[in-house]
Amino acid sequence: MSENRPAAVIVLAAGEGTRMKSTTPKVLHPIGGRTLVGHAIHAARGTEPAHLAVVVRHQRELVAPLVSEVDPAALIADQDEVKGTGRAVECGLAVLPPDLVGTVLVTYGDVPLLTTATLRALTAAHEESGNAVTVITSVLDDPSGYGRVVRDADGQVVKIVEEKDARAARENGEADGAALDIREINSGIYAFDAQVLRDSLSQIGTDNAQGEKYLTDVLGLARQAGRAVRAHVVEDRWQSEGVNDRVQLATLGRILNERIVEGWMRAGVTVVDPATTWIDADVTVGQDTVIRPGTQLLGATTIGAGAVIGPDTTLTSVEVGDGATVVRTQAELAIIGPGATVGPFSYLRPGTELGARGKIGGFVETKNAVIGEGAKVPHLTYAGDATIGEGANIGAGTIFANYDGVEKHHTTIGRHSFVGSNSVLVAPVDVGDGAYVGAGSAVTSDVDPGQIAVSRARQRNIDGWVARKRPGTGTAEAAEAAGAGRARPTDRTDAPPSGPDQGGTRHTAHESEGGQA
Ligand code: UD1
Ligand code: CA
Repeated sequence: MSENRPAAVIVLAAGEGTRMKSTTPKVLHPIGGRTLVGHAIHAARGTEPAHLAVVVRHQRELVAPLVSEVDPAALIADQDEVKGTGRAVECGLAVLPPDLVGTVLVTYGDVPLLTTATLRALTAAHEESGNAVTVITSVLDDPSGYGRVVRDADGQVVKIVEEKDARAARENGEADGAALDIREINSGIYAFDAQVLRDSLSQIGTDNAQGEKYLTDVLGLARQAGRAVRAHVVEDRWQSEGVNDRVQLATLGRILNERIVEGWMRAGVTVVDPATTWIDADVTVGQDTVIRPGTQLLGATTIGAGAVIGPDTTLTSVEVGDGATVVRTQAELAIIGPGATVGPFSYLRPGTELGARGKIGGFVETKNAVIGEGAKVPHLTYAGDATIGEGANIGAGTIFANYDGVEKHHTTIGRHSFVGSNSVLVAPVDVGDGAYVGAGSAVTSDVDPGQIAVSRARQRNIDGWVARKRPGTGTAEAAEAAGAGRARPTDRTDAPPSGPDQGGTRHTAHESEGGQA
């Protein structure tokens, strides 16, 4: 068990967030692949508190289920009609044991960059100094909008004055007006002694400029009761920065991404262009992997070591093996085996599993397709609902016709089998191990091991057709120059004039099946 484990963390997420102008609750907007409240819960849970409560109210029906999904052990506390951060914490305490002692941390659901390390440092500073309250503060060039931290000559915190109350005080010539000139602001993140918090909250009213129950009033009360109240200054102001509108959402999203990308570079990943590389919080990347410009690694994506990803590639919850290469690709819920190559211009949909050293090439779309070791689907193919055996080769332009308009069906291609170019495999159909499909075939019934299936019209060549049907054209001239129409004894004797054009017809028994490697 680590030292300085808090007794509880209360995450406040009941506020409305009107400036987002969204039908989605503010704390459910994502950055880095997690909701804002998801980030807050992760940071809080990392401190290993005995209890974790999240206070909800606005759009509770959407926020509460998300909280439980992110952290099933989190307690949901409902805030009532009484407004303010103080009331929110009171409602949080109400779902915790009434005799709770020790340190209670308070954080915000809309402050996504706060880290577990900062919360641990806050808890340690709070407990080691024997404080009743410790508040995280920052010194800002522009402190407007924030509560100001009023300190005494010893540097202890006397109280926090909200901006609106400081303005009212200044107009009325009261002392608190001077707080407007203070640049040290209240981040809203605190460590409290549980008993002090409970006792103080029960004494707080709503007699202020906003008619709210202020959590900040706890600090003044604790101080009046002779208890120690100190500030824990955090230089990194982004850690306490909240999201109020979509401009801040984008800004904090960018800062978070910079931090994640830098973390991977420090762990041994080459990122060619950090500014156009986006990596979600839950992604992992192996050593010596190279990420080229314009790449987004999203969701639960994991990349092995020594892989090359990008440029211009978006992977959402994709597993990429060691040494694989994925170029200009869009993929989701797919597995790309070690040493495999994908792209350029490939679209891997859910259920794609490419085996080790396999290949999915240009303009290929796959879905529910398990492609064996070393198997290749190199060009211009749709492979849906397919199992392709190891070492098989699927020729250019092959279509796995998996949908009959009502249901989806499966196609199996055996080990080391070869499907010629421009074939249609009409599912359900099985091509056995070591079998061939002739180029241009429409395969509707199973092919056994060792067989070749050819299902296309046999070729007819009609002598003299160009001279008769296209006289006077450049084509006819070229044909004549090439000696077309001259007597060919074998053709003439074997093939008497027949067919619609009254010309000679030749069948070509052409055994090559025209696949492309
Ligand atoms: C509060 C602080 C202010 C501080 C600022 C930092 C108070 C009185 N003021 O300002 O000193 O500088 O945070 O951002 O505490 N919330 C609830 N229930 C409520 C009201 C708010 O759960 O009834 C939650 C919000 O969802 C949000 C957080 O508390 O996560 C802060 O609310 P917000 O209204 O942004 O803070 P202020 O009161 O403006
Ligand atoms: Ca705010």
